[in-house]
Amino acid sequence: MTDLLLSLGSNAQARSLFRTLGLPIPLPATLRRARGPVSDRELADKKILFAAHADAPLASMCASALARAGADCYLDDFEPLRERFRGPCEAFGRGPHALALLNESTKLDGVVVDLSSASAVGDLRVLYSSLRGTVTRLRPSGRVVVLAASAAEGDAEKRATQQAIDGFVRSLAKELGRNGSTANLLRVKDDSESRAGAALTWLLSARSAFVTGQCLEVTSSARTVNANTGTHNRALEGKTALVTGAARGIGAATARALARDGAHVVCVDRQDDGALSALARELSGRAVALDIAAEDAGESLRALFAERPLDVVVHNAGITRDKTLARMTDAHWDDVLAVNLRSIVETTRALEPALREGARIITLSSVAGIAGNTGQCAYAASKAGVIGWTRAESARLASRGITVNAVAPGFIETKMTEAMPVAIREAARRLSALAQGGRPEDVAEAIAFFASPAAQGLTGHVLRVCGGALIGA
Ligand code: NAI
Repeated sequence: MTDLLLSLGSNAQARSLFRTLGLPIPLPATLRRARGPVSDRELADKKILFAAHADAPLASMCASALARAGADCYLDDFEPLRERFRGPCEAFGRGPHALALLNESTKLDGVVVDLSSASAVGDLRVLYSSLRGTVTRLRPSGRVVVLAASAAEGDAEKRATQQAIDGFVRSLAKELGRNGSTANLLRVKDDSESRAGAALTWLLSARSAFVTGQCLEVTSSARTVNANTGTHNRALEGKTALVTGAARGIGAATARALARDGAHVVCVDRQDDGALSALARELSGRAVALDIAAEDAGESLRALFAERPLDVVVHNAGITRDKTLARMTDAHWDDVLAVNLRSIVETTRALEPALREGARIITLSSVAGIAGNTGQCAYAASKAGVIGWTRAESARLASRGITVNAVAPGFIETKMTEAMPVAIREAARRLSALAQGGRPEDVAEAIAFFASPAAQGLTGHVLRVCGGALIGA
């Protein structure tokens, strides 16, 4: 589907004409996206500024993660932090450098602010003072990541302070969207610092291009199965993944991303009209034609994986049957609930014995499941149900080291959204911080990240991949 404003936005002359005429239509920025496989050096040569409140508890974790990923670290307040950064940075020949020595016109690729020790309202000033001057130096498609503590621990003032950061980041995300930049919040629980580096790297990388205004919390809830928590090339080598609804759209992009990362992918879709088997051939995977809402779908999958343990399950297949409640039929209601929700409950139950310790389950929810939407009572119910199921199963399976996370896409350019009336489609694209629709690959990158061994610290999440959609935000 062509997005005319996005095409115009990528043309320098058109941008300048729109500016000169003062047209009240924002031209969306072309987002910088990752190409090719995940690498050990996802942030190679990126200039990342680190600033912090007081004692910066997460400085050493940041220094290791940034230097390992190939970034050049700049420090706002150089002397107090230099020693904490020196070891990790010098091990990779990467600074650290004082921001004051960087030419004022040189752009930054990202800013990380550690507010994890902020416990009083006055501490929040660091957000304002460290970011006010630097956000204007962010390159297009730049990144801001604020690090914080859990907002559910400490006295009332500490919890107020930590919760305040959430409002700040969501607002900043809306302001930065104009140039394709993002702002996200990463909470790190006290005992989980060693698991936080991978999430920080991902949020700073080009793979999170359509994720903005979001909060992830790193915890030690899911038992450690593999102590290796770094970001790696071919991290899914030797693993088996199942993707439902893989014939097209987000499912096909996800199958490709998981295969790129080394997984053997079993691609399931209702029927195989050629696209499914072509994809499986391309990925050296396997095509399975199966209606996941059929009574015996669980049994069929259990038999399929009886001899082959499963490492990753992506419950992606989904349908819409948009009708207002007054016009909805029994079939509309039953089909949507059966495919989008009941199938997840039942097929996972059947597959549980095949799940390896440390496996990954990723479900597809939707922004509609968070905010609700006219004509989508059934769809939104099914997608909200997915969130409830994801949270409950994440807690139940944590002792086996299995993580369960939901991805909630906003407006993504696929056949599903192509079917929307033009006016609604256009509004859905523009009513977001990034003022455009996402691509199936954007959702696939989030799924591939949750599927990676490095994401052990993330479970029970609902990550919106929505470009900062205003709906339900
Ligand atoms: P799509 O309609 O392009 O692809 C869905 C795939 O699922 C199709 O290949 C279809 O044949 C398959 N499928 C449907 N019912 C099935 C069944 N009973 N058994 C096996 N396969 C079945 O959809 P899209 O856009 O790629 O969406 C993927 C997921 O993301 C869905 O769960 C959807 O609800 C969710 N989502 C998509 C959004 C978007 O903007 N595209 C927004 C929010 C959520």
